[in-house]
Amino acid sequence: MTADNADTGRSLHFEIFRYNAADPDAGPTMQHFYIDETPYMSLFIALNQIRETQDPSLQFDFACRSAVCGSCGMMVNGRPVLGCRTLTADLPGHIRLHPLPVFKLIGDLSVDTGVWFRDMAENTGAWMHTTTPFDPDTREQRMDDELAQAIYEGDRCIECGCCVAACGAANVNPDFKGPAGLNRVARFMLDPRDERDDADWFDIISNQDGIFGCLGMMACSDVCPKQLPLLEVYAYLRRKALTARLTE
Ligand code: FES
Repeated sequence: MTADNADTGRSLHFEIFRYNAADPDAGPTMQHFYIDETPYMSLFIALNQIRETQDPSLQFDFACRSAVCGSCGMMVNGRPVLGCRTLTADLPGHIRLHPLPVFKLIGDLSVDTGVWFRDMAENTGAWMHTTTPFDPDTREQRMDDELAQAIYEGDRCIECGCCVAACGAANVNPDFKGPAGLNRVARFMLDPRDERDDADWFDIISNQDGIFGCLGMMACSDVCPKQLPLLEVYAYLRRKALTARLTE
């Protein structure tokens, strides 16, 4: 036995939400599993060990295992986190796992965030709106460093859904654009290549499904695994909404 797979002496008690979409009559249950913790054990490692040694039917999602793909969001003791970068050493011995709320449940800990994010993208027009035809022979346009950096900040979102799961407004209003959606809007608003004007933006964000639907609890900012500056994003959107109203 090497130092890396020697156990830490701690037994972990996992209480995991189970739901089989193929057998909806069975209803959801909580199932208990016990494993020995090893050094540097992440939830990815722990869940794979449970699936390999105790229950091959356990459903959960991981792809990149390095906080890039955004597929491993889950509720850990009531808090949305990325499973791949959460170490069991940072958790108590009793770990409760649930799927992210808001999103369509596939089974157990696996949710389909794609439906929500596609709807959000369609509702916010989350793509470049321009009437300028693409000319492959034109030289690239230069952009101010500070502006490029601000746009890049918005693009760092990995769409894991943790902010949406933590958001009180998104939990009760399925049409709310959510922190990830508002961040997306701000990213295109900042971009000078997007030709939408103040009136267009006003229609998208100045309502209860947009920036004025935010309840101000700021859980999104607390849980974002990428530490996106969401509070600055909301302040920016509120200022833009006000400016658009004044120039109407
Ligand atoms: S597995 Fe890709 S973000 Fe966790």
